[in-house]
Amino acid sequence: METLEQKISALTDEINQYNEMGSAAAEQFRIKFLGSNGSVKKIFGLMKEVAPEEKREMGRLLNELKLLAEKKYNDLKEAEEASTSNGAEAGIDLSMPGTPLPFGTRHPISIIRNKIIDIFKRLGFAVAEGPEIEDDWHNFTALNLPEDHPARDMQDTFYVNADPAWMLRTHTSSVQVREMEKGELPIRIICPGRVYRNETISARAHCFFHQVEGLYIADNVSFADLKQTLYFFVKEMFGQSVEVRFRPSYFPFTEPSAEMDISCLICGGKGCNVCKQTGWVEILGCGMVHPNVLENCGIDSKKYSGFAFGMGIERITMLKYQVKDLRIFSENDVRFLNQFVSAV
Ligand code: DAH
Repeated sequence: METLEQKISALTDEINQYNEMGSAAAEQFRIKFLGSNGSVKKIFGLMKEVAPEEKREMGRLLNELKLLAEKKYNDLKEAEEASTSNGAEAGIDLSMPGTPLPFGTRHPISIIRNKIIDIFKRLGFAVAEGPEIEDDWHNFTALNLPEDHPARDMQDTFYVNADPAWMLRTHTSSVQVREMEKGELPIRIICPGRVYRNETISARAHCFFHQVEGLYIADNVSFADLKQTLYFFVKEMFGQSVEVRFRPSYFPFTEPSAEMDISCLICGGKGCNVCKQTGWVEILGCGMVHPNVLENCGIDSKKYSGFAFGMGIERITMLKYQVKDLRIFSENDVRFLNQFVSAV
């Protein structure tokens, strides 16, 4: 009695610890334990020696043992089938961990663009987009730059097929016009996008770059609203300690117009090459939307007012990451690009 129980327990251990591998493991297991000469079969033969009053209990233990052996056998068979159908025959072990593919990183311009969008979204600005090939009306005329206006020379334009009616947009201000023409007020948008200018490529200028345009039109929008919006943006983007100043300026599409500078992040305002020893760097142009622009786009300038601003994403990115030459943004050198990691 005692010995049968011990034998059952030893066999249970043996089955549990059975860890043969390979394509014949299940069959070997079957022969060893479940076959007509297998140890499970044999141990059943010992039942006849068990005292009648113990038969019931021993029968239960033996049954358990048999079920265990059968389960193990099925598991082994399943594992075998899975590995054959998954390429074990071809000598491939698909349970091996794969070679990890390195994650790419976002382009620094995209990181900063997303951050700018994120900041203005918190103020209720929606993102608007427009075409990169633009007509004269949207890029110039509607923005209070009629033909022969000298301010057109401020932006060296690439025309499409030398046709002055079509061009690569020189600024994202063209998207303002498209939004205003839709006729739905109020408008509170930012327009990120690529722009083109026929400039000599240098450390500070390129023939294409990126801008974010902002536009807010409603009743009673004031210059104070513009200032507060841009203060908020600068502090969120560069930190609370950054200083801001507005300088009067000129843009045909705004009146009054201003340019906004921030204290130089490189030298902390003491003066260096980046800020040309002034302690300040210009980051954007802005102003109150010119009444002519509102009227050109079908908005009653007596009833509505608005502010607009435009900034270069490359400029913000260079300041943020202390990049000294903007040509590197479009060279696709992964040693440069891999340095920028962001959750945004
Ligand atoms: N469009 C101007 C440029 O490309 C930037 C700009 C200045 C946009 C003032 C504006 C603005 O909306 O109000 O240089």
